[in-house]
Amino acid sequence: MLGRMFKVSFFGESHGKAIGTLIEGCPPGINIDSDYLSNELKKRKINDPTISTQRREEDKFNIVSGIFNNHTTGSPITIIIYNKDIDSTHYDQIRFRPRPSHADYTAYVKYHGFNDYRGGGIFSGRLTAAMVIAGAIAKKVIKKWGIEVYAHTYSVGHIEVGDVSVESIKENTYRNPVRCADPEKAKQIYELIKETRMRGDSIGGIVECIALNLPVGLGEPPIDTLDGDISKAIFTIPGVKGIEFGKGFQLSRMYGSQANDPLTIRNGKITTERNYSGGINGGISNGMPIRFRVAFKPTPSIYLEQKTVDLQSMTETEIKLKGRFDPCITIRAVPIVENITAIVIADHLLRWLAWEKYLEGS
Ligand SMILES: Cc1cc2nc3c(=O)[nH]c(=O)nc-3n(C[C@H](O)[C@H](O)[C@H](O)COP(=O)(O)O)c2cc1C
Repeated sequence: MLGRMFKVSFFGESHGKAIGTLIEGCPPGINIDSDYLSNELKKRKINDPTISTQRREEDKFNIVSGIFNNHTTGSPITIIIYNKDIDSTHYDQIRFRPRPSHADYTAYVKYHGFNDYRGGGIFSGRLTAAMVIAGAIAKKVIKKWGIEVYAHTYSVGHIEVGDVSVESIKENTYRNPVRCADPEKAKQIYELIKETRMRGDSIGGIVECIALNLPVGLGEPPIDTLDGDISKAIFTIPGVKGIEFGKGFQLSRMYGSQANDPLTIRNGKITTERNYSGGINGGISNGMPIRFRVAFKPTPSIYLEQKTVDLQSMTETEIKLKGRFDPCITIRAVPIVENITAIVIADHLLRWLAWEKYLEGS
């Protein structure tokens, strides 16, 4: 489960009946309508088979509890999203011949072969639809306090967008199928993914996320630090291999005099002159934008022949996959990173507000 006050869990398998989310601790009175949730889910779809999976899910969902008359009631919210476009024909192929760098082998050993391996089971990107819908609700919770979260494709392979303004991210990200804030780079990324797919291969990339207008004080060190909790949530997304806040790994090559963010006063408010820390110090938000980047590996399922083992005969063998796969996880992950971050911020906002209210009354 993610969170302590705004608690979220996910359930379901890729080729089972449905996937879904259970949210506990959501405050009452938050306006949530079906159109809003549908639009959030649409952001996860890339209806272009040249650069995305051919699986076409309607993402029809059912609000089972916790939302009444388009408002949260304060009781647990359960939402189910049905799986419709299921084709398990090619999955017997991988049952005893695990795909390299997918979870097939680790799951087979951990669950003693009882796991639902069809479509990747619980390890499928399909479950991220539940993450997006839970995060859509969290976004509304934090919006009440002026907090907004945006993500965009920062790089794919060697093509990097670099620093872009929040305005460009808001304006351009969902105007192209590769979820890129720079329209020119978007074309190059599109061609790169297309060419990669034509060769039967896949490619990695980076998603950047920015959260704006957080007050100073979110985060509960020493264990539930804000960066620690964001990282944990981000690692629930399959395919994530790294995260860095602010200047991240670059800081390790700097002197303190280059890395530190000098404190200053602007319009009567304490702020920092730059934001190499990515908006968090000591696991607590410092009032600057939270900025971090998430590294996604290339999709493990590729159409090229790969070396693996046969788990039954204990022999080395080859596998050439058939089926429907994404050539680039990164571009699909943009709304997932955005929404899962909102879940963590909603939890920490509610925890921070409890203290603030307590202290106010003393
Ligand atoms: C949106 C999304 C779509 C994905 N699509 C695929 C896919 O089509 N084929 C595949 O092998 N992996 C896909 N993945 C990645 C795997 O689910 C993931 O690599 C696998 O579960 C192993 O987990 P790990 O990479 O975190 O170790 C996708 C991930 C996401 C977030």
